[in-house]
Amino acid sequence: MVGNTNAPADVDITRNAYNDIADVYAEFTKGHLAKQPHDRAMLAVFAELVQANGSGAVADIGCGEGRLTAHLHSLGLPAFGIDLSPAMIALARQQYPELSFAEGSMEQLALGDAGVRGLVAWYSFIHLPPERMPQVLAEFYRVLEVEGHALLAFFATDAPDAVEAFDHKVTRAYRWSPERLAALLRDAGFTVHTRMVREPDPGERFQQAYLLVSKLR
Ligand SMILES: C[S@@+](CC[C@H](N)C(=O)[O-])C[C@H]1O[C@@H](n2cnc3c(N)ncnc32)[C@H](O)[C@@H]1O
Repeated sequence: MVGNTNAPADVDITRNAYNDIADVYAEFTKGHLAKQPHDRAMLAVFAELVQANGSGAVADIGCGEGRLTAHLHSLGLPAFGIDLSPAMIALARQQYPELSFAEGSMEQLALGDAGVRGLVAWYSFIHLPPERMPQVLAEFYRVLEVEGHALLAFFATDAPDAVEAFDHKVTRAYRWSPERLAALLRDAGFTVHTRMVREPDPGERFQQAYLLVSKLR
């Protein structure tokens, strides 16, 4: 797959890195959600909020091999996945043939304005250089319906207002102070609904954070 020649170099690096480890990643994450009560709890709250006033499509942005898309579907949400890596998309289609997956970048989503009722970005923006995060959050805001909800999960730092690069196994990544990301989400127009931070499990290096936000009228 040849990348978009206008895209910054890091995009090709991230795409190629996930292409190379797609099978390993799928093996690594197999059964992971079943061991993660905090993850399931946040996804359940998100699903209930999305379903509260009718229904609508839910985009899993940076879906990887599709485990979250499938979980959202099991919660009754009409979820579909988008990912930068064609190898990840191929795996997702193979594992969940009943669901819809497409290649694409969160920096330029091929979705109409207000086209989705819900949006999940689960450790998928971690490789994005922080200076491009405001445009991505604007893109999330654009594609979400009014009264829609978005759920973001990411590696956290407790250094106040910090965003810090770290040596993620796949490629360079960033961890965010939840307050700093919450401020950017508010700047993009979102209302921050819930913040949760959990301490690292054995084998994890960092705190894990979840932000649940809404696009209010
Ligand atoms: C750490 S994995 C997480 C995958 C999935 N959300 C999960 O939790 O299993 C990061 C994923 O985000 C995707 N990704 C990274 N940058 C992206 C971008 N700009 N647009 C869309 N997907 C992206 C990668 O290809 C990879 O599949």
